[in-house]
Amino acid sequence: MTQIAPTLLSLLATGSLILAGCAQPSTNAPRRSRELFGTVDGKQVFLYALSNGKGMEARIMNYGGIVVALVVPDRAGKPGDIVLGYDSLSSYLKATPYFGAIVGRYGNRIGKARFTLDGKEYTLKANDGANTLHGGLKGFDKVVWEPDESTPPSDPVLKLKYVSPDGEEGYPGTLTATVTYTLTDSNELRIDYSATTDKPTVLNLTHHSYFNLAGAGNGDILSHEMMLNADRFTPIDSGLIPTGELKGVEGTPMDFRTPTAIGARINAKDDQLRYGRGYDHNWVLNRTGDGLSLAARVVAPASGRVMEVRTTQPGIQFYSGNFLDGTNIGKGGKAYAYRNGFCLETQHFPDSPNKPQFPSAVLRPGETFTSTTVYTFSTR
Ligand code: GLA
Repeated sequence: MTQIAPTLLSLLATGSLILAGCAQPSTNAPRRSRELFGTVDGKQVFLYALSNGKGMEARIMNYGGIVVALVVPDRAGKPGDIVLGYDSLSSYLKATPYFGAIVGRYGNRIGKARFTLDGKEYTLKANDGANTLHGGLKGFDKVVWEPDESTPPSDPVLKLKYVSPDGEEGYPGTLTATVTYTLTDSNELRIDYSATTDKPTVLNLTHHSYFNLAGAGNGDILSHEMMLNADRFTPIDSGLIPTGELKGVEGTPMDFRTPTAIGARINAKDDQLRYGRGYDHNWVLNRTGDGLSLAARVVAPASGRVMEVRTTQPGIQFYSGNFLDGTNIGKGGKAYAYRNGFCLETQHFPDSPNKPQFPSAVLRPGETFTSTTVYTFSTR
């Protein structure tokens, strides 16, 4: 394993790179570049830089499809990196709570690490007590994806592909997954997912960036105001597995229909918050039709940054960084402590393979799974 490029990353963190890159935007200017970041499993890992010429920049590597940095201007126009992560590939290989990764084959939990499909029981690798979490021991966050550079470098687009062998981590079917990251002219990070299989299987692809709209490493996220467009959520048991019920948020600390500071009720006496050690739940999105629909809006009052999440998925996991404990030393040497970042993971509901009443996460041969999630940034 070799590693390069921490200097570029620290330049990014301070904003100096993006300022230089934005001086004279021209339509044919390269908006995607790459540098070697290291090697894993004998395969090259590149760090790609996408820029939209409007002040936004994303750094994404083909190991785990990880968003390593996401630079977004604040209210005063000052760029800042708003996702948690590391300066070097070796740090990602040592320990990461899924910072910035593409999560699969099945994001979130499957109870007792097993499920039955078409009458046959499949046993998965358990990696979260008796349950399986985020694809198992070596999920899609820990594999090298194949980059497709067929789009011109003037497009801030990165397409990644991973072929997961039949039986990997216990899942049936060879699954071919593609994930396309696009930075749009409207300050959006768009993620398009697609997948096909050669045997019936289950699938739940999501993205696991930890956001801090005040800047990564700049304290906790408790003053961020959260809006979740959901009348219901899926309550969990003490092992964080959904009970199967869809419960109204009305009158509970899970009600984010009107913007509310994340910290306002997070320590309330409530069994759901106790099980999750804070927020670590799936909300059932209010939606009509199959298209992109508003799922969440987060406002960071001090920086003025606003993030909106739109998705085609039925659910969203809001995780308030409750397992962060300061042991992950991130970019620029900053430690990420308790609740220093939050995740909004658009998804099918956790444990759907064992919950026939939930929207189906089954994919069959001949079908193509597609989903899209768009993170839009602005200021106020
Ligand atoms: C998800 C899970 C959490 C936790 C984090 C990673 O959000 O729901 O329980 O596993 O990923 O630490």
